[in-house]
Amino acid sequence: MQPIFETNRLLVCPRTLMDTGACMAMDGDPEVTRFVTGPWSNPVAHRAFIEQRTRGPYPPGQGYWTVRHRGDAGSFIGWVLLIPADTIGPEVEIGWRLRRSAWGRGFATEAARLLIVHAFTTLNLPEVIAEIDPDNAGSLRVAEKLGLRPSGVVQRHGRPALRCTLMAREYETMQHCAHGAGAARETG
Ligand SMILES: CC(C)(COP(=O)(O)OP(=O)(O)OC[C@H]1O[C@@H](n2cnc3c(N)ncnc32)[C@H](O)[C@@H]1OP(=O)(O)O)[C@@H](O)C(=O)NCCC(=O)NCCS
Repeated sequence: MQPIFETNRLLVCPRTLMDTGACMAMDGDPEVTRFVTGPWSNPVAHRAFIEQRTRGPYPPGQGYWTVRHRGDAGSFIGWVLLIPADTIGPEVEIGWRLRRSAWGRGFATEAARLLIVHAFTTLNLPEVIAEIDPDNAGSLRVAEKLGLRPSGVVQRHGRPALRCTLMAREYETMQHCAHGAGAARETG
């Protein structure tokens, strides 16, 4: 089962078929899908793709989450995902896509960080990956802020993608350092 997450700004809850229209509208912006291959120009195939991706099935605790403004349950900022890579695996992929009007406010990083914590502390995954177009600087920066590091180049749908990886032991080290730095600030 997929949990619901909250931050001070965001409500991040399992995506449902009710979100299909908002997802389609978001994908209708060519800037949003600039670096992502998909059936964006065919409404029938596009709807079927989103519905199939929403339904899964996925392993327990994995799937798509819709990102909303906290306190506005009807809002739609975009989505984040944690699913088997390209739905097949065996790696587990993390991903993000937001409406253009929401870019540049830290929302993608804030929402995806919840999934990183979930991946390593609840699901006990050994690693998470992201596959990102090398020209998609914004997405690469989100991955970097989350601690993912480039680990190779793969071909995805006829395009090169930079694979970025965060391993569980690297996540633990990050947590350790963050808490250590906090403790140092408190005592220093
Ligand atoms: C990628 C995306 C999710 C980022 O969302 P966001 O909420 O703006 O991301 P954040 O604000 O958390 O972080 C973005 C970071 O990238 C930086 N950035 C954004 N565009 C950039 C660019 N063109 N060049 C360099 N850095 C860029 C921002 O400055 C920010 O870094 P900072 O916090 O150090 O300033 C959003 O742009 C999007 O939905 N893009 C279309 C879908 C997509 O490409 N998804 C990823 C597929 S792999």
